[in-house]
Amino acid sequence: PLVPMRLLLDHAAENNYGLAAFNVNNMEQIQAIMAAAEETDSPVIIQASRGARSYSQDAYLRHLMLAAAELHPKIPIVMHQDHGNSPDTCQSAIDQGFTSVMMDGSLKEDGCSPGDYAYNVAVTKKVVDSAHAQGVSVEGELGCLGSLETGGGEQEDGHGATEALSHDQLLTDPDEAERFVADTGVDALAVAIGTSHGAYKFTKKPTGDVLDMGRIEEIHKRLPNCHLVMHGSSSVPQELQDIINQYGGEMKQTYGVPVEEIQKGIKHGVRKINVDTDNRMAMTGAVRKLLFTSPEKFDVRDWMKPAREAMKQTCIARMTAFGQAGNA
Ligand code: G3H
Ligand code: 13P
Ligand code: NA
Ligand code: ZN
Repeated sequence: PLVPMRLLLDHAAENNYGLAAFNVNNMEQIQAIMAAAEETDSPVIIQASRGARSYSQDAYLRHLMLAAAELHPKIPIVMHQDHGNSPDTCQSAIDQGFTSVMMDGSLKEDGCSPGDYAYNVAVTKKVVDSAHAQGVSVEGELGCLGSLETGGGEQEDGHGATEALSHDQLLTDPDEAERFVADTGVDALAVAIGTSHGAYKFTKKPTGDVLDMGRIEEIHKRLPNCHLVMHGSSSVPQELQDIINQYGGEMKQTYGVPVEEIQKGIKHGVRKINVDTDNRMAMTGAVRKLLFTSPEKFDVRDWMKPAREAMKQTCIARMTAFGQAGNA
């Protein structure tokens, strides 16, 4: 069944695991996640960005989610709006049957404005009040994650698009996090600890100076009852970069967030981990490989099937590593 996100996050907190939240745009991606969930007995969080909703059209997406719930009656499914940019966006998602919404009040006029605390509280609180009255969970965000608007441009060190600000100013301040949760009543809080969206997060394997796990620990101490969310958490596996490049792709060498780092976060209150890029790369690699090695093929199913299977394998790997497997 479709369930509010709070239900899954509370269970994850009680049992010390994390839940991957995978982005979707079409039927095959939803099928990949549900097949992975069946195989690993996992509860799932499926999320759609504003771009995904406009690409897939709300009605198609709504019926695909209903199909997932019908075909997998034993698996709890959250349908989450990723990076809602206004109360209107969040309400339109709720009207479409989403069971959770993110009000990303760190985005203002489509740019990161870490200083505008009052704006962030006002829009987030507004969404919490109306979403909770409708049985829907809410995720907020405090701090700046790199590269959402620039579409994943080259990152030197995870600072993101807002170069004028220092590294520290972009990351979530623990005092402010404590105040923000008290002021808004969000169920989950996305924190900035040095990750960024897209494939180009780091030019070398990240260590403690760019990925601030200590900050998560500190925030969790202040907020034992609020679930923490890590965005930009794709691991950008070398083998997926290699498959893409082996079959005609041109991706520059890059590094993502190591799974071991995410596991450290889960020990300190991270309950939702957003992953999109890894699945994009898995599907793209599979399509490139099939069309490259079988250039005579043109049945859409010939390349959709390996793409769906590749995404399923990525989902299984994350569900297992984050500990949600066995918890459906
Ligand atoms: O938030 C970022 C997700 O990867 C979704 O990306 O906005 O291109 O659909 P998108
Ligand atoms: P990645 O680009 O690292 O997969 O992050 C996705 C995300 O945070 C979606 O909100
Ligand atoms: Na989100
Ligand atoms: Zn995100």
